[in-house]
Formats: sequence, C-alpha cells, structure tokens
Amino acid sequence: MSSTQQRLEELRQAIRRHDELYYVQSRPDISDAEYDKLYRNLQSLEQEFPDLITPDSPTQRVGGAPLPQFQKSQHEFPLLSLDSEMSEDSVRTFDERVRRDLDEAEVGYSAEPKFDGLSVELTYVQGMFVRGATRGDGTIGEDVTHNLRTIRTLPLRLKEGTGFPPHLVVRGEVFIRLPDFHQLNQRLTELGEEPFSNPRNSASGTLRQLDPQLTAKRPLTITCYDFMNDGEGKPATHFDAVFCLEAWGLPIPQFRQNCPSIEEALAFHRTMADQRDSLPFEIDGIVIKVNRFDWQRQLGEKSRSPRWAIAYKFPARKELTKVRAIAVSVGRTGALTPIAMLDPVDIGGVTVSRASLHNVEEVARKDVRVGDTVKVERAGDVIPDILERVDIPGEQRTEPFIPPAQCPVCQSHTLQEGPVLYCTGQTVCSAQLKGSLEHYVSKGAMNIDGLGKKTIAQFVDEELVKDLGDLYTLKKEQLLGLEGFAEKSATQLMDGLEKSKEAALPRFLIGLGIRHVGSHIAKVLAQHYGGLEKIQLASEEDLQAIHEIGPEIAASVKSFFQEERNLHVIQRMKDLGVHVEEIEVVLGELFQPFAGVSFVLTGTLEDFTRDEAKQKIESLGGRMMTSVSKKTDYVVAGRDPGSKIEKAQSLNVTVLNESGFKALLSDSILPKS
Ligand code: IVH
Repeated sequence: MSSTQQRLEELRQAIRRHDELYYVQSRPDISDAEYDKLYRNLQSLEQEFPDLITPDSPTQRVGGAPLPQFQKSQHEFPLLSLDSEMSEDSVRTFDERVRRDLDEAEVGYSAEPKFDGLSVELTYVQGMFVRGATRGDGTIGEDVTHNLRTIRTLPLRLKEGTGFPPHLVVRGEVFIRLPDFHQLNQRLTELGEEPFSNPRNSASGTLRQLDPQLTAKRPLTITCYDFMNDGEGKPATHFDAVFCLEAWGLPIPQFRQNCPSIEEALAFHRTMADQRDSLPFEIDGIVIKVNRFDWQRQLGEKSRSPRWAIAYKFPARKELTKVRAIAVSVGRTGALTPIAMLDPVDIGGVTVSRASLHNVEEVARKDVRVGDTVKVERAGDVIPDILERVDIPGEQRTEPFIPPAQCPVCQSHTLQEGPVLYCTGQTVCSAQLKGSLEHYVSKGAMNIDGLGKKTIAQFVDEELVKDLGDLYTLKKEQLLGLEGFAEKSATQLMDGLEKSKEAALPRFLIGLGIRHVGSHIAKVLAQHYGGLEKIQLASEEDLQAIHEIGPEIAASVKSFFQEERNLHVIQRMKDLGVHVEEIEVVLGELFQPFAGVSFVLTGTLEDFTRDEAKQKIESLGGRMMTSVSKKTDYVVAGRDPGSKIEKAQSLNVTVLNESGFKALLSDSILPKS
C-alpha cells in the first residue's frame, strides 16, 4: 500500500470511528470543527488522487446525479410481514400454539419495539454495503442503495476484525426521530414548502427520493432487527444474533428484552406502552419473536407471515366521535384556528375533547360540520387531529361551517390569505397580544421563567401590558397586587426579565414573532448579519440573496421592519434596557448554539467524562465553570452530585440530569438569553 493510500485509510478510519461515536452512540469525542478538519483533509486528498477513492469512503455517502427511476431489486429472502395481536389473551394463545407445535413446555422469546417506519433489506459483501432495497411486495423491492448510503447511522462498511460473515443480509427499519421530524417540518414551513403529515410519511417520502442529495439533507435513521441469512458463526438465538449485528457496527434497537417465557414479553409490552409518549421516535407496538433459530425454522412460515413471530400492537390512536361545536381561537399572528369541540372519547388511554381543524380551508375540504361523526387521531402529546368525516347513512346534517367575518375576540374584520383567515386588529386584538407575549417569553424564544398563560392574560386584561415593550416597565409592587403573586414569585419574574435584557440575537428575532421566522431562519439571519440593526435595514433583494431565504420570507421580514409600530416597540425595549447582543459573523463556521451559556457539572456522568462534557459544551460555544452562581445557566448533575445542587436550587438555576443534558445537546437548543 502506498503511503498516500495509507494516509487515506487512516483518515477514513478515523472519520468512521467519529461517525459511529456521534451518530450511533451519541458520545462524540472531538469537536465539530476537528471533525470537519478531518473530513476536509480526506476530501482534498481524494481530489488530488481520484483513482484512490473507494465506494466505502465517508465522502461517498452522497454521490451521483438524481436517478430517473428506481431499479427493481429481488430480495434474497422474502420480507415477510407480521400477524398482529391486540390483547394479552391472544398473545398467550400464540404462545400456547407455539409450545404445542414445538412440543416444548417452555419457549423463550425476544421482544423489541415495533418501529413505525419502512422496512429495508441491506446486503453486505466482505463487509461492504453493496445493496439496499425497500420491502416492495415482499419479493421484489426498489433499489434504494444510494439513498441508504446517505444515512449516517448506517455503516458503509462493517468494523474490521469483528468476525462478520463474508455475505450478510440484514433487515431493518428506516425512520425519522420525532425531534428531527418536527425540525424538518418547521424548516419546510419556514421555506414555504408543504410539511409532512407524520414521521412515517416523511421517512418514506425521503427514502424514495430520486435525488440522493435531497435525501442526504433529511435526518433519516435506521435500526437493524433481523439477521436473515444462515451461515457459519451465526448464533443460536435471535437475541444473540442482534448482539453480533451491533458488534459488527450496525445500529440496533436500544430497548429489547430477552424473555425466558411469554410473561416477560407481556411485561415488556406494558413498559414500552408506558414509555411510548416520551420516546423520541414512534413505535406502534412490540414484536415478539421465538428466540431460537432452530425453533423458528421448525415452526416455518405461512404465505405472508412467520409462525414464530407476532406484532403485539398498542391500542389504536384513532377513534370515532361526534363534533359538538366548532370554536375559533386567535393566535399571535392573528390567524384564526377552527377547533372542533368533541364528545369526549378515550383514545389509547387519554380522554380527548377537542381537535384542531387547522384553518378554514381545511374545514371546507374535510366538510366537517357540527353534529358530524369524525375519525380523530392522537399522536404523542400534541393536540389531536381530525382525519376525516365519516359518512353515516341517514344521518341528518347541519349547515356548513361559515368562516367568521369578524374576529371573535376583538370584532375587527377578518381577511383571508391563502387557506388562513386572519384578524386585522393587530394592535387592538388582545388575543394576538397575549399570543405574542406567550411566544416572546417561551422556551424556544427568550426563555423567561415565571410567565405562564394565566399571568399574561392578567397583564393584558388589566391593561398593565399593551405591547412587548411594556414587559420591561413592570414593577414588583404591581405584580404583588396581582392574583397568584407572592414575594418570591414576583422576585423571580423580575430577575427573569432583568436577565433577558441581555438578549441573544437569534432568540430575540424568534421572540419578535415575525411570520416565517422560526429558529432555523432566525439562526440564518443572525449568522448572516450579526446584528439587529443590519437586519432591520436589509433590503428585500439583500435578504433574498441568502441561500435559505425565499421571496416569501424576505417580504415578511422586510414588512415587519417597515411597520412603524414594530420599530417603535423595539426602540422602546432598547430604551428600557434591552440589549440585543451582536454575534460575530464567521463565514463557513457552524453556528454556536451555546454561545454565552454557562454550565456547571457535578457528580459523575454515565456517558461522558468531565473532559468530554467540557469539550462538547465548548464546541457548541458554551462555557464550563467550576462553581454555581446567579450567572450559571445550567447545572448538570450526574451520579453522586455534590452540594452544588442545593446551591443551584437556592439560586433558581436549572438543574439537568444526564438525559436532560443529552436532550439539550441533541436539540442543540439556542442559547439562553
Ligand atoms: S421483524 C418476519 N422486528 O413491522 C419478521 N419487524 O408487519 C418480520 N417492524 O414490515 C420483521 N419493527 O417493517 C420486525 N423490531 C421489529 C420491527 C419490525 C418494525 C416492521 C417491519 C414489518 C412490519 C411487520
């Protein structure tokens, strides 16, 4: 091997290791900048020696032009589906049948979540990822190798020296994690594109994109749950086989259970059902598989599903109910949202009595009227959706919903823009003012604690606050006169407001509530201009020249800053002591979401050493301090924390446990202002 080849291989190996640490294990051990440097070195060396580029090089994840269409790909093994069961009794019946057919008193199972994504078959030859295909009809699928290559959690080659078989066929599920899904949709909305209706659709749309460049920009992930081919070295059980997949470098389900009998599998179902709403990805049940491969073979398959596995689903999240009334709520932008008030119905353990109808056009499209029977779906903790109206023959229907001509809160006339109806009473509409105040103080924007919906409503209703600027005129004595305020809570709020006066630019931009400016566009603007004044003065052409900003966003930003009323409020905020921090514009550098945020670590973390945590925080622009003070933003508490926790509590500093800290890292939340 030439020395260049050797150097290339070293770089590739280092990058692969960091990819795995970052994407699979979520515990990177170098900064993003260091990673970028490695990557750029590899790229330029490969440019110099194009003959030495190998298909498994990390630079080759995205390659080639869009395809005219997908090739068909014949599966080596049929990709079967699973029979579904809905109750413990029917799962026990499955177990009885299995034990009877095998003539065994006890049969062990392996249980895993049932991921709600798309099933794919992956083929590795001599450790190299050579082919990946969608399920298709189970026998023939679509060749989506190029798109799968863009998934960072999927290794392009298996780990050297781990004893993988020369030919390996694996089955897995491609999906999008919920935070990534929400971020993607927010981004699409900000860019004026149509958002996806659910994570599964977005994963499927993305995997079946003909342009791999586009797929690469979308946050797909994958988990592998089936080792399909036989051969030497294959363990005797499914549970152990999945361990092998992990050892060879493939991502596997984080939660799974080795079950000596069906009872443990039933318990796993209960645990996962409890956790379902707090998981960062969607699952719709668990999969229970006979653990021993020889027993799987003995049981065999029916035409489309195996006799050795079942899906034990969670209760449906869709139910039928009736619409009692259609109410209309007014948000901070003045958008009127029709809300269906429903006959209360239990959907998968939660009582639902209202569902969003999003906008007036949707009410018309779905033709939902008072008295109608509708199918309602609940997903996670978000407000439920009406999927469709269900036609009941013979049922008497009421008149169609008439979009209100006046705002139900301030009576100003309404105006339709696209599918949305708006209230025109911007300055006089108390609903809009309440909405903008709630938005300004919210976690994603200025993150001011101690200002809930109720308090804001009081401020507005008692006319203490007539615009955003008025927040900074509030006096402690005024608060003490209000319901629900005591010395401590009033002091807390005054402190929170005081602290928010040193405002980070992106957070302040988000807080202003400019239409189409969410966290992504706010970051883009902040990074491009560096200061509020420059953004205020930017022309529409100038704004549009920024890669991510289209005509709609540019127009919205410009018109916001042309509006006298808005400029007046911003000026007042400044006069009252609000200082919007400028940020250094560094071309080509990553935005540092923790700029200005200080952390204190106490106790031992499971997944990071002290230095790793420090490095991670600093690579995102934050600072790690040794002692807790009023200026500390977060105390991260690991195992056996010290007295720093009490200090933090007495100073009202947010304390995060390790998973909270990880969530903060992975959400790459904006800096606290
Ligand atoms: S095993 C014969 N395990 O569920 C074994 N499937 O209808 C079949 N799925 O199309 C697959 N999570 O896409 C298996 N942990 C898991 C799974 C899983 C999700 C999907 C798979 C399949 C469908 C079954």
